[in-house]
Amino acid sequence: MKAVILAGGTGTRLRPLTLPTNKHLLPLYDKPVIHHAIEKLVGAGVYKIMVVTSPHHIDSFVKLLGSGQDFKRPDGKQVQIVYGIQNEPNGIAFGLHIAKDYVDDDNCVLWLGDNIIEDDIAPHIRGFKGGATVFLQKVKDPERFGVASIKNGKVVGIQEKPKKPTSNLAVIGVYVFDNTVFKKMVGKKKSSRGEYEITDVNNEYVKEGTLRAVMLKKKWFDIGTIDSLHEASMHMRKKSKHKK
Ligand code: TTP
Repeated sequence: MKAVILAGGTGTRLRPLTLPTNKHLLPLYDKPVIHHAIEKLVGAGVYKIMVVTSPHHIDSFVKLLGSGQDFKRPDGKQVQIVYGIQNEPNGIAFGLHIAKDYVDDDNCVLWLGDNIIEDDIAPHIRGFKGGATVFLQKVKDPERFGVASIKNGKVVGIQEKPKKPTSNLAVIGVYVFDNTVFKKMVGKKKSSRGEYEITDVNNEYVKEGTLRAVMLKKKWFDIGTIDSLHEASMHMRKKSKHKK
């Protein structure tokens, strides 16, 4: 299993914080935001990671993460971090496509770097058996997310930012895909908001009957706004005080 962390985008909702830097380099309590995804992946036994970011910020990520020397596997060897460049923020599916040759014939976890999750998803990564696995979380404002339509306990479709959501279950920004994900992207067009949508790819798995959905039970943050970044930082602070 390899992983692709998307750390591009424009971060407009976090301006002015993101004018001189990238959202995923901002502090989340005591660490840069991107450390969270890396630590979760390493904890789940994923040691080969591509960070995809914009040409404007790639040098800062290299300064911060290097080749992964600060992240260790249980056997003491270092985690391998490599980089991909997304020239324009033209969608999550496009960001993943940049990693196609890196993923090669492996399976992959796609992690949107601004997603912070508390649940242990290691069993779903270690026990992955093909198709796609998505993670769902109940939200108050489903119209801001990809929303799962459920029938008889199964996901029968995902709608991207629907005006009239059919459920309050958001598909969060961590996905596990088998290698057919790249074939499923072929021929897909940009959406009306000008992006290649990962929801279109997920719906291919739904059609095939191979999409598995897992409900998250603990906290999840998408740190895309000032308030959610602050809330996530306070949560991490509280957790770290409990540990001491
Ligand atoms: P978004 O929060 O949808 O977009 P953004 O980061 O540009 O923020 P804003 O809406 O405030 O302008 O992005 C979700 C995640 O996906 C985030 O971690 C950035 C990443 N991303 C990319 O890496 N490439 C892309 O083309 C897009 C659209 C997002």
